Amino acid sequence: MSATISAISHYLPPTIIENSYFENYLDTTNEWILKRTGITQRRFLLEGATSDMIVPAAKRCLEMRRIKPKEIDCIIVTTVTPDYSFPATACLVQDKLGCKNAWGFDISAACCGFLYGLITANAMVNSGAAKKVLLCGADKMTSILDLNDRSQAVIFGDGAGVCIVEQSDDPRLGIIDHVAHIDGSGGKYLRKEAGGSHLPPWHSAVKLEDHYIHQEGQAVYKNAVSEMSNAVLELMKRQRMKKNDITWFVPHQANMRIIKSVGEKIGLPDEKVVITIDKFGNTTSATIPTAISLLNEERKLRIGDNLILASFGGGFTWGSLLLKWNPYVK
Ligand code: UT7
Repeated sequence: MSATISAISHYLPPTIIENSYFENYLDTTNEWILKRTGITQRRFLLEGATSDMIVPAAKRCLEMRRIKPKEIDCIIVTTVTPDYSFPATACLVQDKLGCKNAWGFDISAACCGFLYGLITANAMVNSGAAKKVLLCGADKMTSILDLNDRSQAVIFGDGAGVCIVEQSDDPRLGIIDHVAHIDGSGGKYLRKEAGGSHLPPWHSAVKLEDHYIHQEGQAVYKNAVSEMSNAVLELMKRQRMKKNDITWFVPHQANMRIIKSVGEKIGLPDEKVVITIDKFGNTTSATIPTAISLLNEERKLRIGDNLILASFGGGFTWGSLLLKWNPYVK
């Protein structure tokens, strides 16, 4: 028995922000952004919250799968930018979509959110705890970005990716294996301190600007390259896979240089490495489902294709997952 992705879609807000936007008010240049990150543009959600990006992507998923909202029995939202501290964004999505037979919850794992969500949904379907999981990876990063800090303003974007996870018609296909780790000692390098019980969202926290992301880019960068590569190589070894067996490498999109370095460490040619960061920046939980959804829209996925997903993010959190593409279900 194995679980698989039976439908996948994404939503990116219509407002495109080019690098030149930041040149107008920050001490930065298009050349720096392009050279150091590979980003040319990103999308900003000007109105609404994270759930407002999830809903259109989820509706499209339900249409693709030709099922009604009431057939979803569990909703998982992975995000670091929930609409509210509580209720969970999964509850808001349930109500907005009318998934009246679903329960659900949110997962907070920063850039690894979608990967951890897929591992969770897979375990739920395999155990019989759920039949059709609506898994939503979404972030409105502009809600926690310091747009006056050049080292973070230029990197992130907003977006959502949604898929349905259910039992594969072929147990040899679907979600096959994964590697997942956390290391809390790395938390200090990428965090948002205010807004929780440690630093409630009071004036004092806002004055200290602790309600924004804090990132020590170099420390995160080094760990991202080594741990993402290790997670993929560990998975390949266990699955006795050679680099030629990989059809698509779908990494989290944080920095083009990180993606290229990881691709090189695995020994993959550029054509197998999926890139979306140039157009959408780092959308945190949404990068991987958006990338898979685009591959699917572009008809680049065939039954049995080996997709290796990998991510690294705040926590630290990291991992990899082998998905043998198969949208067909029992
Ligand atoms: O998705 C979650 C996980 N996150 C990541 O994986 C991100 C990992 N880190 C990175 O991608 C990179 O570290 C950054 C893109 C964040 C920064 O790039 P970098 O090449 O590591 O730059 P840096 O932080 O070492 O800074 C080098 C210089 C500094 O100036 P000084 O101190 O040398 O004078 C920065 O102030 O670049 C400066 N700088 C900028 N200059 C122009 C930082 N941001 C900018 C900017 N424009 N936007």
